[in-house]
Amino acid sequence: MYWPGKVPLKTMGDSKLHLWHPFTQENGGPPAPTIFRGEGVFLETRDGRKILDAISSWWVNLHGHSHPAIAAAIGEQAARLEHVLFAGFSHEPAEELATRLSKIVPPPLRHIFFSDDGSTAVEVALKMAVQYWSNCGRPEKRRIVALEHAYHGDTSAAMSVSDDSPFTAPFSPLRIPVLRTHSAYCAHCPVGLTRATCRIECLHQLETLLAEHGHEIAAVIVEPLLQGAGGMIVHPEEFLSGVRRLTAAHDVLLIADEVLTGFGRTGKMFACERAGVVPDFMCVAKGLTGGSLPLAATLTTDRVHETFTGSDPGRAFFHGHSYTANPIACAAANATMRIFDSEPVFQRIAAIESVHESRLPAFASHPSVADVRHIGTVAAIELKVSDAGYLSSLRPKLYEFYLSRGVLLRPLGNVVYLLPPYVITPEQLHFVYDTIQDSLTLAAN
Ligand SMILES: Cc1ncc(COP(=O)(O)O)c(C=O)c1O
Repeated sequence: MYWPGKVPLKTMGDSKLHLWHPFTQENGGPPAPTIFRGEGVFLETRDGRKILDAISSWWVNLHGHSHPAIAAAIGEQAARLEHVLFAGFSHEPAEELATRLSKIVPPPLRHIFFSDDGSTAVEVALKMAVQYWSNCGRPEKRRIVALEHAYHGDTSAAMSVSDDSPFTAPFSPLRIPVLRTHSAYCAHCPVGLTRATCRIECLHQLETLLAEHGHEIAAVIVEPLLQGAGGMIVHPEEFLSGVRRLTAAHDVLLIADEVLTGFGRTGKMFACERAGVVPDFMCVAKGLTGGSLPLAATLTTDRVHETFTGSDPGRAFFHGHSYTANPIACAAANATMRIFDSEPVFQRIAAIESVHESRLPAFASHPSVADVRHIGTVAAIELKVSDAGYLSSLRPKLYEFYLSRGVLLRPLGNVVYLLPPYVITPEQLHFVYDTIQDSLTLAAN
């Protein structure tokens, strides 16, 4: 018989039996290393084994693990105010963060709604977009357009706008129908052209869709310039600016999901900046707290916000989470943003990009490589396999090979990508590239 007082204190070995890891084959893969501490680019086990985190722990870490300034901000805030509900209350860390964000995003995006993670930031944008049209007296505009190869998260609406994949296959009954249009996946051009001579003809499908269905479409959602989980697919800037032009022309809102691309990953603070695009919604999460705590935000414009104002309670946005704008997470985010001013972050980003530029050409000409691409701090090497896709049989072999060399890389099927914390040194990055170079023999077999 078990009751709380009688449950024996678990040993470390016992407690592992209870853990169910995300995106992980239960009892199928190698045992998960137990990480005890982190510093800079390194994760460390209790017995001192170091692993170089070349993917920023699922794309969240910016300035290195356990950054002292972020840790101090978390400690101070936790000792002062750990949490207060955000409905009807406010607090200084959220107010400071809203001001900081409003200074780095395109100025029209001055209304900031906090939530918990990338998926909830996307849910919020989708719900706001649909309610916006309802508040405008046009409830028929409620359909969403999303791209092929998209990934926007794992909650129901976020999973719906994500493209069909092994991630979504079991959940089709939970997904809302979405209109799908081409992505600018130049290595596998959806309209059979080549980038050197094309005129972004892959946009024509969206143009037709908007012309035919614009009256019933609320929003188009994109991962600006870089589709992450779909295979680190880099789009031409003209694709993003074309999506903006078309959505504006057809009075359809544009949601830019900057959950991955935000905070410098693509070389600018936000990917939209590179293409000179101002969306109607921007979703941020991941790097917002420098990878220390969950926090997200959905930012939008006066045009959207003002339809939610007034005395009619039916116009309010009935959405929120227990930990909305958690003060400790906001303090961590403020410390993360301050580091952009106190440390040479964009110099580090440029140094990463120049290593990518120096190393990728040799991979491009390797017989096992189908394509290489990069943008800002992110680089990808797509390998030739007969079973391309996330479930490629090559993936687990590569993953284990890299870990055996002390490098954390988690290939997206046959796409090996680098997405390091900005504090990685050129030498460490070259070491990661050397390790990938050595792994190409696995691809050849
Ligand atoms: C572009 C994009 N949007 C949304 C998400 C979902 O974020 P989260 O895992 O924090 O829910 C991800 C996660 O990888 C992402 O890459």
